[in-house]
Amino acid sequence: MSPCPGLRITGLGLTYAAQTVFRDLSVHLQGGRFSALLGPSGVGKTSLLRVLAGLDPPEAGSVEADDGGSLAHRVAYMGQRDLLLPWLSVIGNVTLGARLRGDPPDMARARSLLAEVGLADRAADLPQTLSGGMRQRAALARTLYEDRPVVLMDEPFSALDTLTRAQMQALAARLLFGRTVLLVTHDPAEACRLAHVLLVLSGSPAMLAPPIPVPGVPPRAVDDAAVLATEGRLLRTLLNGAPAIQGAAT
Ligand SMILES: Nc1ncnc2c1ncn2[C@@H]1O[C@H](COP(=O)(O)OP(=O)(O)OP(=O)(O)O)[C@@H](O)[C@H]1O
Ligand SMILES: [Mg+2]
Repeated sequence: MSPCPGLRITGLGLTYAAQTVFRDLSVHLQGGRFSALLGPSGVGKTSLLRVLAGLDPPEAGSVEADDGGSLAHRVAYMGQRDLLLPWLSVIGNVTLGARLRGDPPDMARARSLLAEVGLADRAADLPQTLSGGMRQRAALARTLYEDRPVVLMDEPFSALDTLTRAQMQALAARLLFGRTVLLVTHDPAEACRLAHVLLVLSGSPAMLAPPIPVPGVPPRAVDDAAVLATEGRLLRTLLNGAPAIQGAAT
């Protein structure tokens, strides 16, 4: 069994004011595997991730580790907004978790991660002096610094140019290998390159389509046959679940 627990999600329900985002949502995220979550804007991907991270309580259902242990302190969350604290330097943000826990921050490890995300020379700078993509890379370094067995990431590479995005995907795949990862993305190619399994959320209240397995071992090359074949199947599933746009043939 993987030392990283899977997540057993059972009967999850969430309502904001009058809107039921999802109801009776169940899925098992296998331990040690990379799952990608896709779906149209506003369908509830961030809401689901926040519930899984324990940031928002669901009104029904449960989220449990499948090894029977507690999920407390075993989940890292990288939000859709980078949530860097403006008054802390980049390296101060990367080591924030340690400071909050009262642990001595491991500056060498933080510097090494900043070097991996290409920000070695920006460690002392404040977040507002960084570009959007740099901020996202700093947030990625902070998530990796946390070194948790379960990692939830909400569009972590969305602000990056194509080349940096490919580099950060490879970095995340390498450093998160063997962890239980749920990655929200709008990019079918990214999902097919990085994930063992694809989850598509659609409708209102949102429902999950049957998981789509991606053959082979991630990270896959952009021109990997499995990536290309699964991308087609994924796009079809996304289009089937998308609200109709008049005159748009699919
Ligand atoms: N704190 C909140 N209060 C009220 N409604 C909310 C709140 N957060 C999200 N919503 C609503 O819940 C629905 C799902 O939002 P969510 O952010 O989960 O979507 P998403 O799938 O992550 O979209 P995107 O791809 O644009 O990030 C939306 O209709 C949104 O307006
Ligand atoms: Mg979102």
